Amino acid sequence: GLTRNFSNSTSLNAIKTVTVVGGGLMGSGIAQVAAQAGQNVNLIDLKPELLDTAQKSIQNNLHRVARKIHKDAPAKIEEYVKEASERIKVSTNLEDGTNADLIVEAIVEKLDVKQQLFNRLDQLCPEHTILASNTSSISINEIGAGIKRKNKFGGLHFFNPVPVMRLLEVIKSEQMSEETYQAMMEWGKSVGKTCITCKDTPGFVVNRLLGPYSAEALRMYERGDASKEDIDIGMKLGAGYPMGPLELSDYTGLDTNKFVLNVLYEKTGNPVFKSIPLLDKMVAEGKLGVKTGEGFYKYK
Ligand code: CAA
Ligand code: NAD
Repeated sequence: GLTRNFSNSTSLNAIKTVTVVGGGLMGSGIAQVAAQAGQNVNLIDLKPELLDTAQKSIQNNLHRVARKIHKDAPAKIEEYVKEASERIKVSTNLEDGTNADLIVEAIVEKLDVKQQLFNRLDQLCPEHTILASNTSSISINEIGAGIKRKNKFGGLHFFNPVPVMRLLEVIKSEQMSEETYQAMMEWGKSVGKTCITCKDTPGFVVNRLLGPYSAEALRMYERGDASKEDIDIGMKLGAGYPMGPLELSDYTGLDTNKFVLNVLYEKTGNPVFKSIPLLDKMVAEGKLGVKTGEGFYKYK
């Protein structure tokens, strides 16, 4: 199912307090699933208005979850939402989140900004705190290059929308300890995800495989082989995907799609990831998909 009840893990490594840094699309989802699992959550972002938006989106999505869990007892819906949302404390001050068992970073996809954050967290956090990045495309080892606790550091890569997608990729950094790895796997399970493990390789499992698929769909449309609707219907009805590749690109954001393809090309040299003029043009025009109201399709 979409949700799990309270974590019943009793191991010494059990993670009870989680800090999520970055309360955007991904961070708010990560905070939500941890709160649903009964954990105490700190959610940190740069400005109070960003935290307001995150809290509103979490409330909405908790309602969706609660309506499903308590479909026969509507009176319990508000209570569920209230309890889970009260477990999430928000702050613009990173220091309010440093006393946690696990910190998951979900800030902007820029290496230097992530490195700075991890270096600071490494200094501020108690020794036992595990640090993790939700990066889609940057090397985990590079992000953690400047920290001392390399044994307590790795990748926790979630998928959008976090409350719905059942996968978590646990990325092993070079010097991660077995204890840290086990704690991450256990935590992933506690928030209702199925965990898979991948070495620190470009795109990990899912984005490495989605990349060529998405790139070829874009080129197919660019060449005029088929209409965008037919490409999408093709993969939905012919391959059983919930969204077609162009719809998925709109959903993920064309800027993110382009960024991931560029990194994969840089890191692997595989021409399948080479830049696609149509994608570059649409990004330059600000047609980024759902979030800007227009991508391959129009959104109200
Ligand atoms: N929070 C909680 N519940 C949510 C939700 C959210 N944000 N969004 C949707 N839901 C729930 C709905 O309530 C609904 O539940 P029921 O079916 O139990 O009633 C269910 O999810 C389906 O939602 P909808 O009916 O609104 O829409 P849908 O059936 O079209 O599904 C979708 C939407 C889940 C997004 C589906 O289209 C899908 O799986 N798309 C593919 C998404 C995907 O591939 N994501 C990965 C992108 S790659 C990535 O994230 C990695 C990266 O690094 C870039
Ligand atoms: P987003 O832009 O929605 O959210 C990022 C948030 O981080 C913003 O609210 C921003 O204010 C905040 N932020 C930036 N710098 C910060 C700092 N120094 N301290 C605190 N907060 C800061 O982005 P997103 O889509 O949630 O992506 C976040 C991360 O997750 C990225 O690394 C991205 O690659 C990764 N990711 C994204 C997806 C996706 O589909 N969008 C999927 C998996 C992983």
